[in-house]
Amino acid sequence: MSDPENFPLVRPRRLRRNAATRRMVAETRVAPAQLILPMFVKEVLREPVPLSSMPGVLQHTRDSLRKAAAEAAAAGIGGVNLFGIPAERDAVGSAGTDPDGILQRAIADVKAEVGEALVVQADLCLDEFTDHGHCGVLRADGSVDNDATLLRYQEMAVAQARAGVDMVAPSGMMDGQVAAIRAALDDEGFADIGILAYTAKYSSAFFGPFREAVDSELKGDRKTYQQDPANAREALRELRLDVAEGADMVMVKPAMAYLDILRRVADASEVPVAAYQVSGEYAMIEAAAANGWIDRRAAALETLTGIARAGADAILTYYAVEAAGWLRKG
Ligand code: PBG
Repeated sequence: MSDPENFPLVRPRRLRRNAATRRMVAETRVAPAQLILPMFVKEVLREPVPLSSMPGVLQHTRDSLRKAAAEAAAAGIGGVNLFGIPAERDAVGSAGTDPDGILQRAIADVKAEVGEALVVQADLCLDEFTDHGHCGVLRADGSVDNDATLLRYQEMAVAQARAGVDMVAPSGMMDGQVAAIRAALDDEGFADIGILAYTAKYSSAFFGPFREAVDSELKGDRKTYQQDPANAREALRELRLDVAEGADMVMVKPAMAYLDILRRVADASEVPVAAYQVSGEYAMIEAAAANGWIDRRAAALETLTGIARAGADAILTYYAVEAAGWLRKG
């Protein structure tokens, strides 16, 4: 007995009825080439050290970093983003600009290992290298000196470029950092080295586990330079500035609590947009999965799909290599 008056004529479920149909009509596809793996390398380390707050993530030795970068290339991901932890820290972050500094060494190692198979990016920020843990140099009163910091970023960009980096990733949220870095790179003959600008970087509790990853010595917070989570408009202002200053790509960070920002930035941007699924986002999934509360793989892939759907062309994620394997298997 049919009762057309009461049965739906339009049935969206038809497109959900089996895996082949769902796969055919999927609007968002995440590809390994979009994924960028953040990696930590520490000076004077004999063995890699697992991070308790980020299960599966290591502080690498130079040697283990090289091997892991080769694995990342074999997995077909898009790139790696390197963070260095020096043996010695000082007020101006000298190790960050030393040609023999850990990050410069690591860039050269990874580049020698993977060649052009990966985009080799490096964090361009002072916080890993300063004894006070801030992203810039300080004035006598303890405040972060924007313009003095720009001079250090310029030196750091050139040191990373000399080491062979493909793209620098300034993450310090200093005003004018993209223009300053672009000018320094161009002056030194590195016009082809790109800038992935941390454009909308929020002062976030989700960076928590990262502090363990880089042995951070920060006391206090970064609220005078990173954005207030309450604000969306200033992300668009930062976007306009970074693109005008010469950013080749822009980034929104963190990802999950800022998908609205990501969407707005993606809609307004004329350059590719990256999003960073940060340490705390990874740690939350890991912790819930370890307790048996969520399905680890499904949850990780769902977050990556959501970040791509919100407008990210590239995604920095600690899941990059593993997710590439999952995506390949389908
Ligand atoms: C700054 C920097 C941070 C992260 C990336 N670059 C820390 C911060 O700004 O406090 C966080 C990354 C993460 O949490 O995964 N050098």
